[in-house]
Amino acid sequence: MNILLLGSGGREHSIASKIQKDIGNFSLFTAPGNAGMIHLGENVDIDINDFEAVNDFVSKNKIGMIVVGPEAPLAGGIADFFENSPVSVIGPSKAGAKLESSKDFSKKFMLKYSIPTAKYLTVEKNTIAQGKDFIEKLSAPYVLKADGLAAGKGVLILENKQEAKSALEEMLNGKFGEASNKVVIEEFLDGIELSVFIITDGKNYKILPNAKDYKRIGEGDTGLNTGGMGAVSPVPFADAGFLNKVETKIIKPTIQGLLNENISYKGFIFFGLMKVGNEPFVIEYNVRLGDPETEVILPRLESSIIDLFEGVAFNDLKNREIRISDKTTATVMLVSDGYPEDYEKGKEITIPNITDCEIFHAGTKIKDGKIVTNGGRVIAVTGMGNNIEEALKKAYSGVEKINFEGKKYRSDIGKDLLF
Ligand code: AMP
Ligand code: GLY
Repeated sequence: MNILLLGSGGREHSIASKIQKDIGNFSLFTAPGNAGMIHLGENVDIDINDFEAVNDFVSKNKIGMIVVGPEAPLAGGIADFFENSPVSVIGPSKAGAKLESSKDFSKKFMLKYSIPTAKYLTVEKNTIAQGKDFIEKLSAPYVLKADGLAAGKGVLILENKQEAKSALEEMLNGKFGEASNKVVIEEFLDGIELSVFIITDGKNYKILPNAKDYKRIGEGDTGLNTGGMGAVSPVPFADAGFLNKVETKIIKPTIQGLLNENISYKGFIFFGLMKVGNEPFVIEYNVRLGDPETEVILPRLESSIIDLFEGVAFNDLKNREIRISDKTTATVMLVSDGYPEDYEKGKEITIPNITDCEIFHAGTKIKDGKIVTNGGRVIAVTGMGNNIEEALKKAYSGVEKINFEGKKYRSDIGKDLLF
């Protein structure tokens, strides 16, 4: 069975390397891929949101499975498009993808299935007055979320009521385009964040390694939000008792809710959680793996990822094995100077032969035979060790060896987790 993997980031490079380990004599194609993935499969230049083009490639290349990296094709309905074809799609239906593509939908879902989450109210232009009343009743800070996909930028956290009310008006007046036609106003949860991941065939699930992501650009979690500057797995403050609560209060009711709603869901669920005291709350669902979380999760997966994918495709995930290494992984993202705002592309990257860490390309491409930068997040460097210190030491030794003009990274990834 040939596999087509959609996406071009560090997440997809990491998925591609795991697939390549288990694929045997079959072929891996990556669309559009990046400079790191060309050694693992063949990069193909197709628009991953053009399902007819994807289908054309699938039928000409004996593709049996499509693995979807990012959310956009899922929200656009790629799983529904291929539903009655012999090709299996690893990724939920459009209805399932609404868990990520509509915050209002996901909040209603959580409320209906008693899944712990922040108190909220969804407002539209004609109910703005109720929104302002709701803000009056909350205490600072105030969380406002665009209902739709807004490239990770749709969440605002405001310190005072006046700012929150003005921001609500701006959002409803198109600050994030159509994505903020509806706005979810939320109670602020004061705690510590972590991410938990599962893979599911819609009925059975397997829990993947958990991770902590470092979202801000600056040291000590300061400055603008990014897609993620680094990650560590496992999260030391997520002990067995806490993870047990995550499973019973969040994972099980989520799967049961999808079943009750008749929503076809075959793929990953990423639970963005807040640990408040010792209780888990869902901040958000994503319907894909995280980036850079994947770069620490998959290196810890010892069993075959293709076996899990086949379990999803054939609805027998419960019979498949999952083995996870008890080692710790840490990843550090090298980014372009200026990211997450404006930055230049096309800087030549030098990567010596590195053996004690894994290199995952994100925004890279080949130009005139050289590897050059092609995005804000450029390369993730993952180290593995017996503890966070060892994993970080390896990752940072790789970070030092890779160079390009304007290379920036956070030097404090995982430091808050060291005791
Ligand atoms: P989201 O896109 O929903 O993950 O939100 C982006 C970030 O905003 C999260 O990673 C949290 O750091 C923060 N956030 C979102 N919702 C809340 C909340 N209810 N309380 C505290 N922080 C939040
Ligand atoms: N690192 C956060 C995300 O993938 O959404």
